[in-house]
Amino acid sequence: MESVVNLCKRRGFVFPSAEIYGGFRSTYDYGPLGVLMLRNVKEAWWRAMVQLRDDVVGLDAAILSSPRIWEASGHLANFTDPLVDCRNCKERFREDQLEDRSVCPSCGGKETFTEARQFNLMFKTFVGPVEDEGNVAYLRPETAQGMFVNFLQILNTSRKRPPFGIAQMGKSFRNEITPGNFVFRTREFEQMELEFFVPPDQGQKWFEYWLDERMRWYTDLGMPADKLRLRHHDPDELSHYSAGTADVEFLYPWGWGELEGIANRTDFDLKAHAAASGEKLEYFDQASGERYVPHVIEPAAGATRTMMAFLLSAYTEDEVGGEARTVLRLHPALAPYKVAVLPLSKKDTLTPVAREVLSLVQPHWMVDYDETQSIGRRYRRQDEIGTPLCVTVDFETLEDRAVTIRDRDTLEQVRVPIDTLVAELRSRLPI
Ligand code: GAP
Repeated sequence: MESVVNLCKRRGFVFPSAEIYGGFRSTYDYGPLGVLMLRNVKEAWWRAMVQLRDDVVGLDAAILSSPRIWEASGHLANFTDPLVDCRNCKERFREDQLEDRSVCPSCGGKETFTEARQFNLMFKTFVGPVEDEGNVAYLRPETAQGMFVNFLQILNTSRKRPPFGIAQMGKSFRNEITPGNFVFRTREFEQMELEFFVPPDQGQKWFEYWLDERMRWYTDLGMPADKLRLRHHDPDELSHYSAGTADVEFLYPWGWGELEGIANRTDFDLKAHAAASGEKLEYFDQASGERYVPHVIEPAAGATRTMMAFLLSAYTEDEVGGEARTVLRLHPALAPYKVAVLPLSKKDTLTPVAREVLSLVQPHWMVDYDETQSIGRRYRRQDEIGTPLCVTVDFETLEDRAVTIRDRDTLEQVRVPIDTLVAELRSRLPI
């Protein structure tokens, strides 16, 4: 964990926000490499969940949202954690996360906890200049409700019928009491959620379908199968809306933990919003004359948490030619840069052809260009940030108009003509 956190900071993936002011309350910023990788994680999710299907459409709903949504969804009443304070050291804890309710893990005080208070996790703010109850808004704590409140609008405009889904990725906010473990739990994070609407009698079938699909998504992107497992929730663990939930769990350095939750939300949300809004949130099947409230299967993943899990599982230290190297064995679809163009020397004679190669490749993939330090050190730098392919331009290039492609994982090097370089790279990169 420490090595990955250090790498993230040292190489500009993810670092504490507002660091020049001492950081700000477990918030993080995604730097030049982090923003690329996070986009790639989301793009891979969107591709699998929307682009390659004809039964899912997308949505980007507002983050600033009406209290009526959260009243109807049950979040105002139920989206709470039990909070206790230690009277001795003043530390604050989530009661459900304490191993022993009678001893403070921070100061060792015995029986020093206050009674638990229910603490709502939603961030509350005010819209407009007047800060009164009539102007309250909430930052969404999940993207999911956007799909429920827009169900009718999308049903009427997209010409989809159940089974069909609405997918959304974006920021969510929760005033977590105990953020931590780097970006595993933060107060501002990104989610990738699908609400899949099905005829009521098909809930269980589609729940099982999405369990398989989602597990496959992670392994297809190179997550080792032995670091993943499905854990079905016990009935007393289920959220207020769920008739069945299973977590995709990842083996973090501190043990198994949630990566994604897949829930059978039944018709809870559509019925709740129908009752609160007075709108009929139903599907009418003209062919059969049947009218019903669809049930919903929800695979809900965290983009920022998933990016961290991919970094953790890709991080490797090995040896090349007797020298230690750090390598991120990221799937090429997730790597920040797919290609690095490296002129062998900084000499002016090589620059024009190296720049020509760069502009040939740039329209197709994110490319890094690096001409400083020895070629060995530059390979190490690219290995450390997970770049799958390096293209080296050397003095022979000036004679034969060929360059060398070096593979991060096999270390194999092949010489190819500049004219066929893009095709050669394409055959080695999945998309
Ligand atoms: N709509 C259902 C829902 O939001 P959730 O299990 O609370 O379910 C889904 O959240 C996913 O979002 C989690 O599996 C996790 O990956 C991510 N997530 C939730 N809270 C998070 C937080 N505080 N920080 C980072 N990721 C979080």
